[in-house]
Amino acid sequence: MNENIVWHSQHVDKNDRAKIKNQKPAVLWFTGLSGSGKSTLANAVERKLNELNLHSYLLDGDNIRHGLCEDLSFSDHDRQENIRRIAHVSHLFVDAGLFVLTAFISPFKQDREQARKLLAENEFIEIFVDTPIEVCEQRDPKGLYQKARAGEIKDFTGISSPYESPTNPELVLKTAEYSIEELVGQTINYLVECGYIVDTQENVKD
Ligand code: ADX
Repeated sequence: MNENIVWHSQHVDKNDRAKIKNQKPAVLWFTGLSGSGKSTLANAVERKLNELNLHSYLLDGDNIRHGLCEDLSFSDHDRQENIRRIAHVSHLFVDAGLFVLTAFISPFKQDREQARKLLAENEFIEIFVDTPIEVCEQRDPKGLYQKARAGEIKDFTGISSPYESPTNPELVLKTAEYSIEELVGQTINYLVECGYIVDTQENVKD
């Protein structure tokens, strides 16, 4: 980092921002294979948070790769850079007092740990969307597994590029066993049990 750049402290901090939103900000970091259901789940959880009057923002891999990360490939190095950027953006959004939902394959343990380290204790909730590759491949919503098997896409996660499963995630969501509604319920229960959502009744919109 350039030594001539000095951090300027700001008058309004994370706690001030979170307080007027009546919430405890955190990142819900969804990780899993392509086609595992990360985006679907993150969308459904965000919808629920919104219904509960909670302020949120969703960062989704495919969308972010159309803008902020459009210069990145799927090499190990570029995936690492992708996750580094997303971790910093998530950190900023948490600083803004929001619930951040991220839906990225984020295949490497070390990169997810780096993201965790950027945040304060209890602000990083790792959610493993644990869907067997056979199921993801059968779903193949974008036809990418078929292309990868045919050798038309290189470095494809689970086929020609590794995925390192989380060893100790805060939450495991099994999309082959439960419905989306049940999994949203499991996630919201976790947030309530761990004190991220204080009173769901009070939060419900009229
Ligand atoms: S990550 O590995 O860097 O975290 P990210 O979540 O941003 O990946 O992007 C993954 C999405 O890009 C997948 O859902 C899929 O639609 C698309 N994609 C295109 N090429 C690949 C590839 N080689 N490996 C995995 N996903 C790919």
